[in-house]
Amino acid sequence: MTYERDNIKAMAGYTPGEQPSSVDVVKLNTNENPYPPCDAVLGAIRSVNAESLRRYPPPLADRFRNAAAKVHGIRPEQVIATNGGDELLRLAVTVFCDPNRSGGGGKGVGVAEPSYSLYPVLAEIQDTRITAVPLREDWSLPDDFADRLNDAGCGLAIVVNPHAPSGKLEPIDRLERVARAFKGVLMVDEAYVDFASRDAVPLLDPARGLNNVLLLRSLSKGYSLAGLRFGYGMGSTPLIDAMNKAKDSYNTDVLGQAAATAALEHRPEAARTWRAVIAERARLTQALTAKGYRVIPSESNFILATPPASGPDARAIYQSLKERSIFVRYFDQDRLRDKLRITVGTTAQNDKLLQAI
Ligand SMILES: Cc1ncc(COP(=O)(O)O)c(C=O)c1O
Repeated sequence: MTYERDNIKAMAGYTPGEQPSSVDVVKLNTNENPYPPCDAVLGAIRSVNAESLRRYPPPLADRFRNAAAKVHGIRPEQVIATNGGDELLRLAVTVFCDPNRSGGGGKGVGVAEPSYSLYPVLAEIQDTRITAVPLREDWSLPDDFADRLNDAGCGLAIVVNPHAPSGKLEPIDRLERVARAFKGVLMVDEAYVDFASRDAVPLLDPARGLNNVLLLRSLSKGYSLAGLRFGYGMGSTPLIDAMNKAKDSYNTDVLGQAAATAALEHRPEAARTWRAVIAERARLTQALTAKGYRVIPSESNFILATPPASGPDARAIYQSLKERSIFVRYFDQDRLRDKLRITVGTTAQNDKLLQAI
């Protein structure tokens, strides 16, 4: 006898990338920033005192909201702080999608395929319908993306930009076209945007009159804080207010709020790491290309590389790198089976990878 709902029983759950317990590995498999967070972040965590731990944290993370609003030139009410970007995704699915897949109706979630493998898992948890529209050969969104999601009755569309796992950046005017044509909420997942040449914040400009756009940000990659679990959403106040109703009362803690606020207040220090990653990304791309790999130009902190057909296949390379304590990501799924996703590491880490390859 089991007690869980049928949809939970039927689902497999999300499989995170390997997290090897030894620190003595070259870890290029889960897109962490290879550089440490800045000193101000560690100082902010140290400065949290017994009294602020005794009390509940500010429920809406007001200081953080103010810091984020200042960075992006929006109002604090347009920001929601979450326990990682993942919590924002879960909240969006909870708030904008109907849990009645078995009944056949209701608002579902629409995604492009392939993309972040958590999206379908969240849809399964909510028991909402998922509509997956294949990306074009060049990893861009098809022109009829919004129409197809409208036809399927989606209440939420999630587009990761820069795209994961290809690293391709969709231009903002294409996102705007999707937002205008789509009848539900368009979430642009900008988890990796700190490494890109531009973001989609201009879509939030009231002059554009778009009130159905939500942007996701993560402090895991850009700010080197994957262990902290902090992210945030930005959008029109009605969208943010709706999600605030559905979140846990105290979804982010005092340590996280202090650290995340300091991280945004010291953004130029994080930006130094972004520039270093971008420079290494170019070097890695060039070096792998010279070895016969096909590498898609990436605007993210990872690259998607196809090994030359003349040598061992992607899975074999993944395995033998792992035997040498070098972890990259292999996806056993359509369009990705012949590729490796490689997080851009430090110069020393990338050299080890290139040497092993
Ligand atoms: C595409 C994408 N979106 C969102 C996230 C969420 O990141 P986090 O929950 O660490 O902020 C990730 C993490 O890997 C991701 O790859």
